[in-house]
Amino acid sequence: MDSIEIKGGTKLEGEVLISGAKNAALPIMAGALLAPGRSIIRRVPRLRDIFTMLQIFRHLGVRAKFVDEDTLEINASTITDCSAPYELVRKMRASILVLGALMGRMGRALVSLPGGCVIGPRPIDLHLKGLKGLKAQVEMEHGYIKASAPELIGGEIYLGGRFGSSVGATMNLLLAAVKARGTTTIVGAACEPEVIDLARFLNRMGAHVSGAGSPRITIEGSNELHPAEYTIIPDRIEAGTYLIATAISGGAIILRNVRADHLDAVIETLREIGLKITKEEGSITARSGGPLSPVDITTLPYPGFPTDLQAQMMALLCTVPGISVIVEKVYPERFMHLPELNRLGAEISLEGATAVVRGGCRLSGAPVMASDLRASAALVLAGLVAKGKTTVRRVYHLDRGYERMVEKLTALGARIKRIKEDA
Ligand code: EPZ
Repeated sequence: MDSIEIKGGTKLEGEVLISGAKNAALPIMAGALLAPGRSIIRRVPRLRDIFTMLQIFRHLGVRAKFVDEDTLEINASTITDCSAPYELVRKMRASILVLGALMGRMGRALVSLPGGCVIGPRPIDLHLKGLKGLKAQVEMEHGYIKASAPELIGGEIYLGGRFGSSVGATMNLLLAAVKARGTTTIVGAACEPEVIDLARFLNRMGAHVSGAGSPRITIEGSNELHPAEYTIIPDRIEAGTYLIATAISGGAIILRNVRADHLDAVIETLREIGLKITKEEGSITARSGGPLSPVDITTLPYPGFPTDLQAQMMALLCTVPGISVIVEKVYPERFMHLPELNRLGAEISLEGATAVVRGGCRLSGAPVMASDLRASAALVLAGLVAKGKTTVRRVYHLDRGYERMVEKLTALGARIKRIKEDA
């Protein structure tokens, strides 16, 4: 397994181009299954999760490939199968997004249950509730979700859950409901920009979705979907990670291909900490300088502070003098990075889903273990400022969601390299 070695202490300077959003690309790829023919999806990041989705497509009999650096061509005419096996689903939970798309296209689906997850329990009850709300028959059999419907029928479906709305369940229901007979109303829908992006792509395919981005989405079902061309939104989590990297390294960078309006909570929090941020059309400039202040953060569904930046923000707050408090409201057990940050000299304690960070200590480099995608990014960020050498092991997690991170950080001046397993 490869690792990443970082020598801390350099300030990041320069420009970085933000990739297309993984979490928008995956559902949009699933959306392309809904109509026979050739869809073209642009700005797709070359990430491990995207390649896992392509493996699932191959299993389904769908032809899909990159036709240039970041353009994906998906030809869903040849779909023959309607199952997603455990060997693929266990690699990536987002595989479950093919459930709604297969129901919409084929009227049946057999998708493996995703199984355990390091960031805590991740039930799928809301995904199933959505499909049942369209009058599909849904059963569990041998570790698989088996769903079928002679015809999907629209209705009003409440999708609010214990931890707020569900991004994936909203997307799965959208993917099925666009082909259902009649009108579907999703109440308590997730409002994330990735949900809007999926709805826009589906409308480009001829669907009739309105209200995406609000908690109430209305879908008029249609049998007339066709392939479409689409460009994915910029990755707000990757952008947020580079903003936090600027603050932690004490540097100044410009982000290109970015949507500042998708980052309001993050920009507001970083300004409160002391980062100077200016927004322009398609770019954000961030500059550190001056004292940094501690903050209190609660992660929430969009437009709140995203859980996918909690770990990276924790790494930053370790270096900010004073006490910061982080409450994780989306995944209350998503704190695997905490003991690893403490190994670097941080002082963080945990009480339930609340982390108290006693910041301002000097981090010192050490070998650490990445446990999941965003935790890995947090450890790389901590390595940028830690004294000496930090080695982040198991970086395959990072490959799931950060396109060319080592190259991008190197171009910004970081002393970072990837160590191949056999080196
Ligand atoms: C998406 O996961 C993202 N993944 C996650 O990013 C992100 O952390 C999450 O949304 C929250 O923003 C993708 O888009 C591929 P949810 P998703 O359903 O859709 C509970 C990353 O690092 N819930 O919105 O799976 C759930 O347990 C990944 O890129 C139910 O109770 O998340 C959680 O507490 C990690 N029942 C809350 O809802 C359900 O049926 C939100 O989860 C489904 C979810």
